[in-house]
Amino acid sequence: MSNYHIKHLEEYYQVYRKSVREPENFWEEVAEEHFMWQRKWDNVLSWDFTKPEVKWFEGAQLNITENCIDRHLATRGDKTAILFEPNDPKEAAEHITYKQLYERVNQFANVLKEQGIKKGDRVCIYLPMIPELAISVLACARIGAIHSVVFAGFSSTALSTRINDSDCKMVITSDGSYRGAKTIDLKGIVDEALNDCTCVETVLVAKRINSDINMKSGRDKWLQPLLDHASSDCEAELMDAEDPLFILYTSGSTGQPKGMVHTTAGYMVYTAYTFKNAFQYKENDVYWCTADIGWITGHSYIVYGPLANGATTVMFEGVPSYPDFGRFWEIVEKHKVNQFYTAPTAIRALAKQGLELVEKYDLSTLKVLGSVGEPINEEAWHWYNDNVGKKKSPIVDTWWQTETGGVMITPIPFVTPTKPTYATLPFIGIQPALMDENGKELKGNQVDGRLCVKFPWPSMARTIWGNHQRYKDTYFSAYENMYFTGDGALRDEVGYYRITGRVDDVIIVSGHNLGTAPIEDAINEHPAVAESAIVGFPHDVKGNALYGYVILKDVGETRDHANLRNEINQIITEHIGPIAKLDKIQFTQGLPKTRSGKIMRRILRKIAQGDTSNLGDTSTLLNPEVVQDIMDNVL
Ligand code: WTA
Repeated sequence: MSNYHIKHLEEYYQVYRKSVREPENFWEEVAEEHFMWQRKWDNVLSWDFTKPEVKWFEGAQLNITENCIDRHLATRGDKTAILFEPNDPKEAAEHITYKQLYERVNQFANVLKEQGIKKGDRVCIYLPMIPELAISVLACARIGAIHSVVFAGFSSTALSTRINDSDCKMVITSDGSYRGAKTIDLKGIVDEALNDCTCVETVLVAKRINSDINMKSGRDKWLQPLLDHASSDCEAELMDAEDPLFILYTSGSTGQPKGMVHTTAGYMVYTAYTFKNAFQYKENDVYWCTADIGWITGHSYIVYGPLANGATTVMFEGVPSYPDFGRFWEIVEKHKVNQFYTAPTAIRALAKQGLELVEKYDLSTLKVLGSVGEPINEEAWHWYNDNVGKKKSPIVDTWWQTETGGVMITPIPFVTPTKPTYATLPFIGIQPALMDENGKELKGNQVDGRLCVKFPWPSMARTIWGNHQRYKDTYFSAYENMYFTGDGALRDEVGYYRITGRVDDVIIVSGHNLGTAPIEDAINEHPAVAESAIVGFPHDVKGNALYGYVILKDVGETRDHANLRNEINQIITEHIGPIAKLDKIQFTQGLPKTRSGKIMRRILRKIAQGDTSNLGDTSTLLNPEVVQDIMDNVL
């Protein structure tokens, strides 16, 4: 019997040891007992981090939607699979049962086929958080098309970059979206993006806001009439274990976003197993993750992980502040939510609102609280623990990444004693390592280093779409035979991990990863800008905010700086999206550079953070005099 469900600490240690000593036996047992296979594997694992190449369950054949839907029909057909809560609280929630999900996914899958989508084709999904988003994801998986969901807050430029990078044949979108009191013209953004994409043949449009939009004949099709005519049975495509399931883009230190490729069997096994344990999900619980399916958290822990366990998963279309900041708690009360999973930035925003809004609602159904996306600061942790969990619901601070596919370091609720700001212990099967600057592993406890993983786990991304070399360079070149996460971490006296933040040029703003390079590239497109550098500085709600240092071409530029700042943010919004706007923009004569011409971000970061006590030796800079000038004019 595999230990699919860990219930106490001793069991955790025992299972953990087994997962490290005999990883293949361990994962084989989990895979064997808890999933539906059309053919079993010949080999559980083969790997080589120097190539890098990792394969799990090679030789197996399956379809993830049979595991997420079909196999539940006999016992959970009338159970709610997806509970859709609309943006407007006055609009009725929608309960989609497993039986209905089966029908809707199959209808959608048949529409995809009818529109010429085949196994291996890439389909871009650019939708708000409405049921069609989860359904289209699953419909792609049903027929073996590779979905690439792009968060519907990204701009048309960001969208077209992603569509072109993976050569998508189709885009699935809607006539618009609701976001609090606003509506957003998603179809207009798609139209603009497609001016730069020749690969897209068809655009399917879901109706959400009933707006009057342009439909390009021959290319754009309303979704509903096609669904109405489609059969609700669609045979699941037989997928090999290592066939790609999806691509999801994440920001990197350099320009182009990275299309992380996740494959089928390992991803399914690991997301299902982590979901069950990290949230201690029990039959009839109602689980709610507030993330957007446009991010990995939504892929793994709104769609695949919960559905693979036959869970009820809430999908919320709106925002925490609409119609007021009590909305999350209202939803918890209304749907009797048992597990609630959100981001520190949301917790901080809600904590600012005072307690009346939390106390107004009955939160007594809550059993487990989750946090993800960035380090949770101590104050936010306590506020969450005291006022939402009433000190009786453990907080699972889950550390993981788009690249890791599933949760990597996390407490198991009611099993692992929690500690504020600590993600605590590695999950079953995960072998973290902390490395020093010289590439040596730091053994023992009470050490602080760069976080790596030394052994493969089933849901790790296998490559970057179209660029395996970049995959190797980014994750497997910093340390020999290790996956490098890009994060720093410390290990305390009992072996608990605390993630200290990114050690590369990625800045996490409101839980969104932003690479500095693409933002700088956007700013530099402004005709008045010669050069720029972006750093992060602490922000009490967003975690980090962006600080830009900008050199203008014409030093005597007489234009109003306030206007220039707006124009720069406008360009960033167009190229990336409003999430990447700068909070502060300092115009400067120069940027501190090394003699080889590299910008010394460390110095800029310290100045932006208001910590100039120890800037280090600046005398070796190419232009040490600019440092004082920048300090004198800091915002
Ligand atoms: C950060 C989100 C501290 C980290 C699932 C990581 C965290 C990056 C935590 C990945 C956490 C995520 N504590 N930091 N609990 N969770 N991070 O790809 O820097 O959007 O590398 O995946 O977020 O962000 P991504």
